[in-house]
Amino acid sequence: MRTIVVKDYVALSKCAAVIVAGQIMYKPDSVLGLPTGSTPEGTYKNLVDFYKEGLLDFSRVVTFNLDEYYGLGPQDKLSYHWYMHHHLFAHVNIDPKNVHIPNGLAEDVEAECRAYEEKIDRAGGIDLQLLGIGRNGHIGFNEPGTGFDTLTRMVRLTADTIAANARFFASPDQVPVQAISMGIKSIMKARRIVLLASGSGKAQAVRDMVLGAVTPEMPASVLQLHPDVTVIVDREAARLLD
Ligand code: GLP
Repeated sequence: MRTIVVKDYVALSKCAAVIVAGQIMYKPDSVLGLPTGSTPEGTYKNLVDFYKEGLLDFSRVVTFNLDEYYGLGPQDKLSYHWYMHHHLFAHVNIDPKNVHIPNGLAEDVEAECRAYEEKIDRAGGIDLQLLGIGRNGHIGFNEPGTGFDTLTRMVRLTADTIAANARFFASPDQVPVQAISMGIKSIMKARRIVLLASGSGKAQAVRDMVLGAVTPEMPASVLQLHPDVTVIVDREAARLLD
């Protein structure tokens, strides 16, 4: 696990975007695994800027998002479909048929999850998986206690995650309590992983992920077992690493 500490959120966003851009330049048909949340917003903005400057071509890029709230449709402004469209896809030349996000309205959730894993495999697997981290150490929506052998499936959100994500909703009781999320095993299959964390609220999770025991109680700690992980943190999030 290599750790890159940068000054602040602006630097973190640029650093992550440069790494993703390099991936796309070296392999124009890269398969990217993408996260949502506040943290990657700056990264997506920089990628859009690189595209507008003529540096990047997304026409052959394939994407798979980590998760989607269960019960929210693509037109719902609080869905991760809408988030991705708003922050990235609407502004670059990605081919809509190359974009994959779990369907939060799926009637047969098991079939949806199975098909999602098959699509990742058929695309050749994920070249670069970008990740954020929850305050409780979750990656995707894989909450503490998630087995390391999990694939895409329906998950229940913890009270802590619902509270953390309530800021996007009118009230905490409107936050969906379930989501469809890629599993720990799905994430670990990616060839390269880049995790982003910003701000002092993530410092404890970052410390436990990098220096703590590898345990399902701290889902992100599993990344210590992956051969190619880069953690990009700003100074505040790196505060407890020394
Ligand atoms: C959500 C997402 C995660 C994300 C986490 C942290 O729960 N499912 O993929 O990493 O939030 O979000 P933020 O970056 O807003 O702190």
